[in-house]
Amino acid sequence: MFKKKTRRNNINQLEIVNRPKSVISEQFRTLRTNVLFTSSDVHMKKIIVTSSEPSEGKSTISANLAISFTQAGYKTILIDADMRKPTQHKVFEMMNVKGLSNLVAGQVQLVDAINKEVQPGLDFISAGPIPPNPAEILGSTAMTKLLEELETVYDIIVLDTPPVLAVADSQILGNMADGSLLVVNGRKTHRDKVIDAKAQLEKCTAKLLGVVLNDLNKKDDGEYYYYYGEKEKN
Ligand SMILES: Nc1ncnc2c1ncn2[C@@H]1O[C@H](COP(=O)(O)OP(=O)(O)O)[C@@H](O)[C@H]1O
Ligand SMILES: [Mg+2]
Repeated sequence: MFKKKTRRNNINQLEIVNRPKSVISEQFRTLRTNVLFTSSDVHMKKIIVTSSEPSEGKSTISANLAISFTQAGYKTILIDADMRKPTQHKVFEMMNVKGLSNLVAGQVQLVDAINKEVQPGLDFISAGPIPPNPAEILGSTAMTKLLEELETVYDIIVLDTPPVLAVADSQILGNMADGSLLVVNGRKTHRDKVIDAKAQLEKCTAKLLGVVLNDLNKKDDGEYYYYYGEKEKN
């Protein structure tokens, strides 16, 4: 008769900045270590963050992960490569007038598109105005060249991307990046979708680094919940 209430865990969008001592922030640091040291053969410079479906936490996790890299001394740039539903500029309270779309289209200069030091050690490129053809833009030679140029300046490039099952964008970027992370909403995402998304990512040249379980319910999910998304304790 009564619908079971689902309460989302209490995460701040810039958790690692605003609550550095929380359990969630600690989990971001663990994730950072895992990303950096999972692969001994490939140098993890360009990392895409994706999920099977929308709203699983890609943008939240990519922002916090990018900041965690800066906190370990890595010069990092976060790129909002989700030109379908860009939100990263809101996380950093920036405008989204000049960004990736018009940068790759050659309408703006790199120096004008980079937002410097949005957090200490972190630069940021927003998605830019929503273009009609995001996949084409991401798959262009100009995009490859942009990443090559950024690699000479930054230690780590984190790319926030659209859901892998919805559009080709993250697979395109998955063939330009070194590693990929699959964010899974532990409450709502169906197992089959995760399996499909994993299969799509495994087709890419980027190494699938792992799954980030987000927004799990402590009671329902037993031991896994603490991997990411636990309610703050500190
Ligand atoms: N673990 C979490 N607990 C509570 N809210 C979350 C959690 N992860 C993400 N959110 C919220 O859910 C919404 C969607 O997250 P977002 O990171 O934008 O997802 P995506 O980029 O995959 O679409 C945002 O409002 C975000 O603040
Ligand atoms: Mg997003």
